[in-house]
Amino acid sequence: MSYLERDRLHCWHPMTQHQTEPDPPVIISGSGAALFDENGNEILDMISSWWTCVHGHSNPDLNQALKDQVDQLEHVMFAGFTHPPAINFSQKLAEVLPGDLNRVFYSDNGSTSVEIALKIAYQYWRNKGQSHRTKFIAFEKAYHGETVGAMSVGKGCGFFHDFDGLLFDVEAIPYVPTWNGDEDIYAKEKSALKKIKKVIEENKDKTAALIVEPLMQGAGGLRFSRPEFIKAVTDMAQENDILVIFDEVAVGFGRCGALFACEKIGVVPDLICLSKGLTSGYLPMAATVATEDVYNVFLSDDPDRAFLHSHTFTANPLACAVGLKSLEMLIENKMMDKVSHIEKRHREFLIELQKHHRIFMPRVMGSVLAFNIQDDDGAYKNNAGEALRNWFFENGLNIRPLGNAVYLMPPFCITDTQLSRAYDGIIKAMTEVLNPMNLAA
Ligand SMILES: Cc1ncc(COP(=O)(O)O)c(C=O)c1O
Repeated sequence: MSYLERDRLHCWHPMTQHQTEPDPPVIISGSGAALFDENGNEILDMISSWWTCVHGHSNPDLNQALKDQVDQLEHVMFAGFTHPPAINFSQKLAEVLPGDLNRVFYSDNGSTSVEIALKIAYQYWRNKGQSHRTKFIAFEKAYHGETVGAMSVGKGCGFFHDFDGLLFDVEAIPYVPTWNGDEDIYAKEKSALKKIKKVIEENKDKTAALIVEPLMQGAGGLRFSRPEFIKAVTDMAQENDILVIFDEVAVGFGRCGALFACEKIGVVPDLICLSKGLTSGYLPMAATVATEDVYNVFLSDDPDRAFLHSHTFTANPLACAVGLKSLEMLIENKMMDKVSHIEKRHREFLIELQKHHRIFMPRVMGSVLAFNIQDDDGAYKNNAGEALRNWFFENGLNIRPLGNAVYLMPPFCITDTQLSRAYDGIIKAMTEVLNPMNLAA
């Protein structure tokens, strides 16, 4: 039986309606920004395999770091034991993160890193004798992952209606997306900040933390925000003694033009969630990093005041070794210069695209380019996204629109020629797929 026949019999893919979706390509290998299927076809990974592989696929230096570590130690439990890869990686993360974000708690994926941040914030107040502070504040249309706590704070993204009964209440505040040529942005921010102030003041004594996707709401539709807006909101929260959690699962490790979004915004959150780019997509790993102040609240003679949370694979040595190498490469190989170059190319392409096609909310930040094929009214009343995705696949491009938002988020090692291939593909798709639907005239 072929790979696909066996896949159809036994594999249950994420976010997939198996009854109607076409068969996926069978990927055998990868190199840089390219993936190769079982027939030798090349597919450019223009979304870094769900935003992970900042250094591209099968990078020789990351491969070597993994090989070196596997000959030494593959895994040891992290409760009651420690090991050099975790110590080295934690030290490096603390060095590159702003302020005193020094205490690294590892887990396995973005959702667990969020779940951990929520639990730490919740217990922080209990340990301080303020167990009435149980609420969370989150942005409308936020997405923070798929576990129950993460779904609760991400309720606004609209993906989780089937699970409403499982989710806890969250105070939602307005988010203000922006794009090139958005002339009303200051007025919209001013009005939102007024509402946010009211929510914060009314809830400050009951609230454990505010959770934020800084600079870019990812799965909620690639919606960018101005750093100044996020800073105004987080300052307001911190001034009112509310903990601030930055969910940098998507934007961390250079995606938006700075190593971390908090650096660009000029805020030191109390907790930061990292995953995806943490190991450049090599191994499932996440980190929730806390400030000294947060960590200290868990120190006590009483064992119950410790953070009694664990995952079997916490601080896996293979993942730590690759994560450290990936972080060193981001810094030593001046990858932020590469991101600036991608940003410049994206901007030039958007100008060209806008000359010929009707697109909404064109926007670029760091390595991320996005635009909408309909106005952002929240409605997605056609199957243009799916039609585009299928066309892109058939034309050797992994580009997966999110609702009516088309976006690129390539690995930083992408070449100029590969970028041009993706841009040409978008132009062609606008003509061949959207024009017949009257969406790109
Ligand atoms: C901002 C953000 N938080 C959390 C998650 C969840 O991460 P994971 O899919 O690794 O559980 C994602 C995933 O896309 C994300 O974009």
